[in-house]
Amino acid sequence: MEQFHHPRPVRTDSRAGWQPTPERRRLLAGLSGRVLEIGAGDGVKLSCYPDSVDEVVLVEPDPFLRAAAKGVAARLATPVRILDGDLRHLPVEDSCCEAIVCSLVLCCAARVEETLLEVRRVLAPGGELRFYEHQRSGNPALALAESLVTPVWSRAAGGCHPARDTVVAVQQAGFVIDSLDRFAFRHFSHVLGVARPR
Ligand SMILES: C[S@@+](CC[C@H](N)C(=O)[O-])C[C@H]1O[C@@H](n2cnc3c(N)ncnc32)[C@H](O)[C@@H]1O
Repeated sequence: MEQFHHPRPVRTDSRAGWQPTPERRRLLAGLSGRVLEIGAGDGVKLSCYPDSVDEVVLVEPDPFLRAAAKGVAARLATPVRILDGDLRHLPVEDSCCEAIVCSLVLCCAARVEETLLEVRRVLAPGGELRFYEHQRSGNPALALAESLVTPVWSRAAGGCHPARDTVVAVQQAGFVIDSLDRFAFRHFSHVLGVARPR
């Protein structure tokens, strides 16, 4: 998915040589209990979930990507449930997950504040949000460039908004950021972080 940032022309881990990036491995390191990954894509990260995870629940609206994820899940020991669903109405009950994983998906949310409300709803007390996302650049010229490319980029890349200030959105949704790394990936600013409901 990093190659294209688009839900359809994805690589699956059945392709020789394709591996999740180190950032995606770090995103999942140390997780335990039941973990919900939203906008999960083709399941290429599934093999990176640690053994301490009891169950992985994937929510993905695209049937092509759900089918790809199902193929990956069949080869794993950890139980995986794959659900159809939308970021604004996650198809799981309140307070049911120890962690929620968002990987290049908050940038695709039409209303990111609604998605983060849903994340709060389904997180168990003491739970954490793990995110690996586009982040508006701190450099004003680059931020302007990100804003300028958004109309075309968004249409070509599954609704992605590279100029979105994801960190501020997470904080405004009532989360405290526990840790945050900022880095550039393929010319766009990204963040890798952990946050907890206040
Ligand atoms: C850029 S891809 C990232 C996929 C995956 N998380 C990854 O890191 O490879 C964005 C994903 O968000 C999903 N998505 C887009 N809009 C969505 C929505 N409204 N509800 C749920 N998922 C959505 C897409 O189907 C796609 O799988």
